[in-house]
Amino acid sequence: DIGIVLQGCGSATPEVALSNDQLSQVVETSDEWISTRTGIRSRRLASPHLTLATLAAEAGRRALEMAAVNPTDVDLIILATSSPDDLFGSAGQVQAEIGACHAVAFDLTAACSGFIFGLVNAAQFIRMGVYRNVLLIGADFLSRWVDWRDRRTCVLFGDGAGAVLLQAADRDRLHGFAMQSDGTKNCHLTLPFQATPQILVDQTAVGQGTYQPIYMNGQEVYRFAVRRVPEILEKALFHAKKEVGQVDWLLLHQANQRILDAVAQRLHIPAAKVISHMAEYGNTSAASIPLTLDAQVRQGQIQPGDLIASAGFGAGLSWGAAIFEW
Ligand code: ACO
Repeated sequence: DIGIVLQGCGSATPEVALSNDQLSQVVETSDEWISTRTGIRSRRLASPHLTLATLAAEAGRRALEMAAVNPTDVDLIILATSSPDDLFGSAGQVQAEIGACHAVAFDLTAACSGFIFGLVNAAQFIRMGVYRNVLLIGADFLSRWVDWRDRRTCVLFGDGAGAVLLQAADRDRLHGFAMQSDGTKNCHLTLPFQATPQILVDQTAVGQGTYQPIYMNGQEVYRFAVRRVPEILEKALFHAKKEVGQVDWLLLHQANQRILDAVAQRLHIPAAKVISHMAEYGNTSAASIPLTLDAQVRQGQIQPGDLIASAGFGAGLSWGAAIFEW
């Protein structure tokens, strides 16, 4: 059987930071409100000329360096994003910037579950023996799609990119996973296209338009997360044949500190094992898990062999978990 290892990780964030205090000059809010309700104190914002592909490529290059894999040896690039530079996909641009000339590259859209869904996708190609080196990148610039007049949402998000290099190996470090979706609750978190009818000839019209800013029913999403995330982690642990007590780190999508605390409490995971990184970066959507992983690995917090229980959740609604060893 072909196993999977995480051979390297990397991340990249825009230089421009916006603190809660600065944000209170944009909308009626305060550092006190934002930090007590979310744990977020600052976020990075992509300047208008920075492309998502460039930041994603930077994160990808760092993962390749750590893994000591040449760009030309990458077989597949999966770019998990909901905010590509180009609706036809931005993975090709990332491939070009990295110089991964032998790779096939495509985008995967699953909002804040994108990294976990990408991990599971990548794993299938490796286990089948089709590809050996897969570069999985989670990157989002939700600052492009936030309504900067809506204090309920604009305080939450930040821009960033994170990557892992997954490799075929004799030893298997990806122990289990589970994924789920509930489209009946789609309306609670959307970034919808809104069409304006354009009449071409008598009976024939097409819908042209643009995307509307992010809409989120915060309380519904909160309730969904604290209920579904513990369930999916238990399911993934079951498939992995691991007990919750064996978990070294709980690495959740960095949406809100209160969600992290509630999930940990339900699973009886002590606070010391809960990785929290949102104070500095906010919710970076598909980037948040690999961005956080990279920071902890480079700080020496996460050590080789540590067992990580990870989960993503968000728009779709969608959610998923993976149990892996670093
Ligand atoms: N500053 C000051 N006041 C605010 C702000 C703000 N930024 N935002 C909302 N308020 C006010 C509201 O207007 C409301 O006042 P009102 O009662 O006079 O109308 C009051 O604060 C409470 O608002 P709620 O929306 O009920 O606040 P809540 O306690 O639910 O917290 C929050 C909001 C933080 C968004 C919470 O619901 C949450 O974390 N939900 C989960 C969201 C999430 O994690 N989403 C991301 C996952 S998916 C993805 O990543 C794409």
